[in-house]
Amino acid sequence: MEFRVEKAGSDLMKTKPNENSLGFGQYMADHMFVMLYDESIGWHEATIKPYEDFSLDPAAMVLHYGQAIFEGLKAYRGNNDRIYLFRPTDNLKRMNVSAARMCMPEIPEDLVYSAMKELVALDKDWVPRAEGATLYIRPTMIASEAGLGVRPARQYIFFIINCPVGAYYPEGFNPVKIFVTDKYVRAVAGGVGNVKTAGNYAASIMAAVEAQKQGYTQVLWLDAIERRFIEEVGTMNIFFLIDDELITPPLTGSILPGITRDSVLRLTKDWGFKVSEKRITIDDVYSANEKGSLQEIFGTGTAAVISPVGELNYKGRVCSINNGTTGKLAQKLFDELQAIQSGHKKDPYGWVVEI
Ligand SMILES: Cc1ncc(COP(=O)(O)O)c(C=O)c1O
Repeated sequence: MEFRVEKAGSDLMKTKPNENSLGFGQYMADHMFVMLYDESIGWHEATIKPYEDFSLDPAAMVLHYGQAIFEGLKAYRGNNDRIYLFRPTDNLKRMNVSAARMCMPEIPEDLVYSAMKELVALDKDWVPRAEGATLYIRPTMIASEAGLGVRPARQYIFFIINCPVGAYYPEGFNPVKIFVTDKYVRAVAGGVGNVKTAGNYAASIMAAVEAQKQGYTQVLWLDAIERRFIEEVGTMNIFFLIDDELITPPLTGSILPGITRDSVLRLTKDWGFKVSEKRITIDDVYSANEKGSLQEIFGTGTAAVISPVGELNYKGRVCSINNGTTGKLAQKLFDELQAIQSGHKKDPYGWVVEI
């Protein structure tokens, strides 16, 4: 299957926002990619076209039963106006894992990959030039068939939209305060926590809102069964540096397999760190902190790359990590990943793709 390209005329080209106040996800680029699925014909009508509204029947199944999956990756502007993507095919593979879990059709990875590159190339002026700012790419699939009744839909829309986003840390790294929730859970093995489906995020909002009311940026999620084992932080994977050992929870079914997580594991192993994917409880973390062996905690994800944690609050016990400052490893990983992603540093891993 091929895709068509319908370029926006000058009347449909938007005024670009100020690059110094982009925030996250507020402005959409000029073009989108759309393709339709029908059980009887498969994927069809693949088109890059001017950004526009959809028309959806109020009975569209995504609105009722939530068959919706998405991905998130970025295009980076490097030296000489070169544009790069970071591990894009890993996002498409993960999308197909999500599709399988949600009984949605697989996307043709090669076609979507070509369309994504062409879309970013067409909207390359939307890849910001400001330091640390990027173009966030959001591939999404929704069940569009009209009909009530819980079953896999027979019709879907897949689309990619792009939005310029500002630097996550415009004033440099700022360690975040995290509330450890034992009241709410994000996911359980056998559920859908290991895939990127919209309902996971809807279910997480209340815990985040309550944490924010108490002055915390995000929540730390514990396992759903014993409420002791650490899983993720907000919408990021989590790492602990304890006694020079870098620890992250293993992918046992309730954790999203982050691409940044995988990159951090690879880099730190190559740097000679002792790296372990093993279960760790919140009590382990507090006792390591009391002993003075807890060196760093940080989250990893596409949006922030690395997000140092400066404080935890668990059952009212507040623990300050690394005196609330950014650890050396978090800083080094952030610098290294940013340099690779924007083509400033040689990429020995084959992660970066130039558009
Ligand atoms: C729940 C959750 N965990 C972890 C991550 C980090 O994944 P990645 O590094 O692929 O962005 C994300 C972001 O996609 C997420 O939504």
